[in-house]
Amino acid sequence: MKFNPFPKITTERLILRKIEESDCDKILFLRSDKTVTKFIERPENRKTKNKTDAIKFIKEINEARKKNESISWGITLKNNPAIVGTICLWNFSVDHKIAEIGYDLKPAFQRKGIMDEALKSVVNFGFSNLNLYKIEAFTHKENESSIRLLKKNRFQINENRNDEDNSNNLIFEIENQAANMT
Ligand SMILES: CC(C)(COP(=O)(O)OP(=O)(O)OC[C@H]1O[C@@H](n2cnc3c(N)ncnc32)[C@H](O)[C@@H]1OP(=O)(O)O)[C@@H](O)C(=O)NCCC(=O)NCCS
Repeated sequence: MKFNPFPKITTERLILRKIEESDCDKILFLRSDKTVTKFIERPENRKTKNKTDAIKFIKEINEARKKNESISWGITLKNNPAIVGTICLWNFSVDHKIAEIGYDLKPAFQRKGIMDEALKSVVNFGFSNLNLYKIEAFTHKENESSIRLLKKNRFQINENRNDEDNSNNLIFEIENQAANMT
């Protein structure tokens, strides 16, 4: 599993690119805006409260990528390099066969199918390029937009699992039909 060089993804309307320190204002907004973070619970030490925190966070995700621990993309529209959201694969299992997906989008860009397009491309990347067996998504039981997005993309709730860290979360999973699971 190698994330170097950075695996930029291009879709019909989007470019998923590396997040740079110069994107700190956009990252600060996404990680601190009340609407975007309504259903996302982060421990105090993982909160992004100012520009310094945002730069620190960007440095951390880029270090984690270099160590093959996680990969985060900035979502941009093809005609504008400004980041409107992010999507990541992280929390890889020790054998690198399972990863968790996370995503957020600026409210002004929601309900346009942008995350649907980004998520499809990242799931495809995870299954085709990383040969993942399974991708998981932990989402708050009242996060209707996120649940709709996941169901539309064939993620299924695993009723037998509970998030030990947050009882409000549902755990969705999608398996790689093409993977040899033996
Ligand atoms: C979760 C989140 C990314 C979903 O974003 P979204 O824009 O609603 O998701 P989609 O990209 O699937 O867009 C779907 C909507 O776009 C509409 N749409 C418009 N044009 C479309 C197109 N070309 N293709 C597909 N859908 C389109 C769909 O009809 C759908 O509308 P609906 O929600 O009224 O049914 C967003 O709500 C968000 O960022 N929330 C805050 C962060 C968060 O909670 N993250 C999840 C943590 S687990």
